[in-house]
Amino acid sequence: MLFAKKTAFAITALAASVSASPAHQKATSTFSTSVISSTASATSSATSEVISLAQWATIGVTQYPNIFDPSAADANDVCSGYSLTGLKTTETGLYGRLSLLKECNVYGYDFDELSLFVEYQSAERLNIQIQPVDLTYVYILPDNLVSKPGVETLTPFVDSDLVFAYTASPFSFTIIRKSTGEILFSTAGNPLVYENQFIQFNTSLPKGHFITGLGESIHGFQQEPGVNKTLYANDVGDPIDANIYGVHPIYVDQRYGTNTTHGVYLRNSHAQEVLIREQSLTWRLLGGTLDIYFFTGPTVKDVITQYVSTIGLPNLIPYWSLGFHQCRWGYQTSDRLSEVIENFRKFDIPLETIWTDIDYMDSYKDFTTDPHRYPLEKFQAVIDALHANHQHYIPIVDAAIYHPSPLNKSDIYPVFDDGVAAEAFLKNPDGSLYIGAVWPGYTVYPDWLASGTQDWWTKAMVDWHKKVPFDGIWLDMNEVSSFCVGSCGSKNYTQNPVHPPFDVGGPATTFPLGFNITNSTDLPYYNSIWYTYTHTPSPSSTASTTSTSTTVSTDPMNTKAPGKGNINYPPYAINHQQGNHDLAVHAVSPNATHADGTVDYEVHSLWGYGITNATYHALLEVLPDKRPFIISRSTFPGSGRWGGHWGGDNSADWAYMYFSIPQALSFGLFGIPMFGVDVCGFNGNTDMELCNRWMQLGAFFPFYRNHNYLGAIDQEPYVWESVTEATRTAMAIRYEILPYYYTLMYEASKTGIPAMRALSWEFPYDKSLASVETQFLVGEAILVTPVLAPLVDYVKGVFPGVPDEVWYDYYTHEPVSAGPGENVTLSAPLGHINVHIRGGYIIPTQKPAYTTTETRKNDWGITVALDKVGSAQGTLYVDDGESVVVEDSLVVDFVATHGSLYTFPRGTYDVCQPLGSITVLGVDSRPSVVSLGETIISNFTYVNNTLSVGNLQSLTRAGAWATPLVFSWK
Ligand SMILES: *[C@@H]1O[C@H](CO)[C@@H](O)[C@H](O)[C@H]1NC(C)=O
Ligand SMILES: *[C@@H]1O[C@H](CO)[C@@H](O)[C@H](O)[C@H]1NC(C)=O
Ligand SMILES: *[C@@H]1O[C@H](CO)[C@@H](O)[C@H](O)[C@H]1NC(C)=O
Repeated sequence: MLFAKKTAFAITALAASVSASPAHQKATSTFSTSVISSTASATSSATSEVISLAQWATIGVTQYPNIFDPSAADANDVCSGYSLTGLKTTETGLYGRLSLLKECNVYGYDFDELSLFVEYQSAERLNIQIQPVDLTYVYILPDNLVSKPGVETLTPFVDSDLVFAYTASPFSFTIIRKSTGEILFSTAGNPLVYENQFIQFNTSLPKGHFITGLGESIHGFQQEPGVNKTLYANDVGDPIDANIYGVHPIYVDQRYGTNTTHGVYLRNSHAQEVLIREQSLTWRLLGGTLDIYFFTGPTVKDVITQYVSTIGLPNLIPYWSLGFHQCRWGYQTSDRLSEVIENFRKFDIPLETIWTDIDYMDSYKDFTTDPHRYPLEKFQAVIDALHANHQHYIPIVDAAIYHPSPLNKSDIYPVFDDGVAAEAFLKNPDGSLYIGAVWPGYTVYPDWLASGTQDWWTKAMVDWHKKVPFDGIWLDMNEVSSFCVGSCGSKNYTQNPVHPPFDVGGPATTFPLGFNITNSTDLPYYNSIWYTYTHTPSPSSTASTTSTSTTVSTDPMNTKAPGKGNINYPPYAINHQQGNHDLAVHAVSPNATHADGTVDYEVHSLWGYGITNATYHALLEVLPDKRPFIISRSTFPGSGRWGGHWGGDNSADWAYMYFSIPQALSFGLFGIPMFGVDVCGFNGNTDMELCNRWMQLGAFFPFYRNHNYLGAIDQEPYVWESVTEATRTAMAIRYEILPYYYTLMYEASKTGIPAMRALSWEFPYDKSLASVETQFLVGEAILVTPVLAPLVDYVKGVFPGVPDEVWYDYYTHEPVSAGPGENVTLSAPLGHINVHIRGGYIIPTQKPAYTTTETRKNDWGITVALDKVGSAQGTLYVDDGESVVVEDSLVVDFVATHGSLYTFPRGTYDVCQPLGSITVLGVDSRPSVVSLGETIISNFTYVNNTLSVGNLQSLTRAGAWATPLVFSWK
């Protein structure tokens, strides 16, 4: 039987008795400490008098989402729109005035007069802006906050492929692609609705459209008819089809009929909803202005470049960040951390970076370490040892800042005091501090729009780094999260609840689909453990759960109001995922106020973007001249300039492994190419089979990190023998192709085109590939076809471009035999991930080692995959992998044709490692003469139409790329 190997390791990991192996001890400590943390925060003295946040304070006012309310007015039916007058041509476009035809005041108060600006900003970009003439209460998203592209070239009218057409009354506009005559976007037939708390416009779409983008959500890659997207940053663990952490109001419309693609970006930070139907798309905004950008493409990759360069190209990541990252919530002590690091070494699984979740903090306060569990000197020794071994350390930093109790003289927290002095925190409308609650208890929230916040934040980071020399930062809880509704601590901050009113990291009780089959003999054992565990009452939860359940009333308050309106309970209720849809649940309230008077309502989804920006700039001070490395949970257009993103709190289940691919592809087009998810799953327990498949899949994502939940079983790749092997196999490929991967990340930083790509981007004229989201490409040359389901030993995949294209198996170098559109069944026993190389491409490699630094010191290799006519090409980019301003770099172009491979190095970065090997796939017949430069190489192998030569070091002593090379086979 395929999965006969028992997960013996995991089972003992659950046992309460302590066994001798360090890994077993670790697992046991996970268990007992999760009990500790639900009793009291570890360093708190008073276990008996734990004050918990009142449960009523966590419940908002029930809102009835408009989309589910059958009696809700349809703005298109009740509103009449505007009429356009005074249209004038300007140097770059048009200007006109829109006057309200008839009041409708459907979900707010209509603006009577609007200005319309049409601007041809470049040959590729057209901007339409519609904003009220009277801007008194209108939030204008500042261009120094979210980049606002301007006019790049004059006289673009004739150059642009986009034509703006309009109807004056009722006003509507249409964008037509000149070269094809196709309507790309049209509001014809529906009124423009423009009110203080509700803006709506529609476009028609052709039947059978293929729309992607519009995030963040856990959903397939395509936004198909029937989808309702809610865009509002939300702290929630990855529910399917709901609003989660980030907001990306951009869609890409790939039109197979004309082979053209365009993109539409709405630059607005308010809560939004987008409804996609068979032939239309409706966009609703709860405020701000209409600031829409149309990108002409015409290819999908053009659209990505045009969009991403508009919002800001992604930063170039440090080389080391491409190594493997291990994390978990539940590395409870610094000893435990050392143990994990050692275990990786022992099992010979490359570990580049170890991460810590909130376990290391002193009572969950940012920039602190727990004196008992992470005593500073011990902790520093762990980090120093990592650095000595070319490894790295990344801590979590939470968004909210602990508010100490002024009545408790020993409750000293200078980071808070400094922030108060710097006026760095969000306020209530009355000017008092806005006080919510997160892990440490009552908390305040940095105000990224206040002038003193950056310096305060930078100082906190710089000071802390002197104690804890981290290499990057992991930003969490930054939607921004608060566990209570409203400023719940404002009146109560002296009675600080020491931790939130629920178990911190209670036990995970679920297992992946198929677990009962692969682990049938062990199931009763697991069940008995879970029973005992889940039926042990936890002291802290009794305090909150015994409080009588609060009666929740549907809010009668969603009333219209003048000015900025009713910001806490807007008349149009979005389908916000949180319990009762109140905008303030698990978040700061919409009326939390910034230093300049801006309210959270206007910039809610920008909070995570703000902290990522500030952290990037702080890290430039912490580690001068080193590229900052940041992974953030909440993102917005432009976040990619400062950091990457992980997919959030997914679950250890097959569905989430599947969804990781569309989520990654979406983040690619959002300009955040450094993306990965919690490999093996975060919530719930993983199992051997899922973790085996996922460790292999994750190896091909840009960001590769294993992370899980406090109460779940251990899931480091060494926990199961089969996972250890599978991981080593996949990591060997990842580390071997690091030069290729890094070159792709470099390209992403220059063009916006992400490393991880959809088949529909590389083969845009084949409609049958549009829906493929179970396979993906790394760059243009590597196709990954993972197993995404339990209990199978095969996988189906397509081979795009055949028969013109040839695809070689990565392991055997055999060309795949596949017909156009054929769903080929590939063998995929556990531990094997299908990877194919595309003919026509050349991949630079390095011999894999334990860390990226050591890999960089190894010999180079070149893999040439010939296409049908015996040609191939490729590129390599090299630099020191860490400088912010790169002074020396090297680009090597590779060309193979007619039996010769040429290398063309240019640049000033010195590479001293020699070339070790060359492998050529698809060589028709055994060559009789093989040579490198003038030297005849007699020692070569020719197997499976693959020519391999090794031991070339002596011929390239000055470094593989010191001079141009010619390698020939005749
Ligand atoms: C604030 O304190 C009062 C008195 O102890 C209590 O009744 C109330 O529930 C507290 N509010 C919150 C939000 O915890
Ligand atoms: C989407 O919105 C429509 C209302 O426009 C509603 O009828 C439908 O149930 C919603 N679909 C989902 C999946 O929520
Ligand atoms: C689109 O591209 C495909 C493949 O190259 C081609 O067969 C088709 O004719 C093209 N369609 C148009 C309208 O150009």
